[in-house]
Amino acid sequence: MGPGPDPQDSMTGDPIRRPLDDVWYCVGESRRFREGRLCAVTLGEEAIVVGRAAGGGLFALRDRCPHRGMALSAGRLVEGRLVCPFHGWEFRPDGQCAAIPALAARDESDFRTVRLPRFSVREVSGLVWIAAGEPRPDAPPIPEVEFPYAGMLVETLEVEASFDLVALSFVDPAHVAYVHDLWWWRTSKTLREKEKHFAPSPFGFTMTSHRAKSASAVYRLLGAVPEVEIEFRLPGVRLERIRAGEKRMANYTFATPLGPGRTALVNAMYWNLPLLNLLRPLARPLMRQFLGQDRDVLQVAQKGLDRKPAMVLIGESDVQSQWYFSLKREFLRAREAGAAFANPLAPRLLRWRS
Ligand code: FES
Ligand SMILES: [Fe+2]
Repeated sequence: MGPGPDPQDSMTGDPIRRPLDDVWYCVGESRRFREGRLCAVTLGEEAIVVGRAAGGGLFALRDRCPHRGMALSAGRLVEGRLVCPFHGWEFRPDGQCAAIPALAARDESDFRTVRLPRFSVREVSGLVWIAAGEPRPDAPPIPEVEFPYAGMLVETLEVEASFDLVALSFVDPAHVAYVHDLWWWRTSKTLREKEKHFAPSPFGFTMTSHRAKSASAVYRLLGAVPEVEIEFRLPGVRLERIRAGEKRMANYTFATPLGPGRTALVNAMYWNLPLLNLLRPLARPLMRQFLGQDRDVLQVAQKGLDRKPAMVLIGESDVQSQWYFSLKREFLRAREAGAAFANPLAPRLLRWRS
């Protein structure tokens, strides 16, 4: 039995049970956040309003008017100011209240004392990232795509499961044969012995590049046997990099906390072959189907964990799951100690059947 979460943790509110709160999370595709529009985003316990100012830059503020609690995302952006739909209070993108229209000319109340909490927001490789608290200067970096991509495809599903359970599905080789029995992904149901090299990488670990022996239909689109490298990093980031000569693909998966027991599963795929853009309308339903299989099984498993949160992590196919908890625990310990995060993992060869 490995160092899974202690069953007592949920009772004591141990931080190991909660998503990390001072790191970046993906909240969706850049193009969803159009100029002049306001979008409501949930991150952990926070409701956030995200807007794009006239210059193109994004801002993120608490989606709650300090006056009477109205959702500001239901309001409008007027001349770069966020206008509350209830009584018209106006806010600048930095959160500062800029006007209270109901104040009479001789009313000396000072609206400048009113301010909305602001969140850090970044755009990287066509995706928007928000930090759930003040991001630590040494927080895991926001993933980038390392090649000029010709196209991308993003799907997001909501899962009624804890952040940990969703993140664990990114490092769980044993579920693939049982959950993802799709003709275009796996042609055979037989389990095969696998042997993979892992090395620690900043904030996680990487399955070092190998030639995919039995290329799935997706890999075969590249027309050659590709090399594949898979990195996992905190808080819940899986980066699969696929290369066949000059042809490149990236398949990135992220978990984003939406509240207790609710997690977004975000999948972003990138490629550098312009021809693959033609396949996008076909690829989207397949991507949804694949993610939907994870969602369906995770939701049922969560119900079991709600009754009794202990997990038995056993054998080398579960070592990556144990690593996930070790990394998270070390990250929390370093924060507690005010120290820099030091990766506790060592290189290792892992064997399993999948
Ligand atoms: S609730 Fe926003 S202005 Fe009154
Ligand atoms: Fe899966």
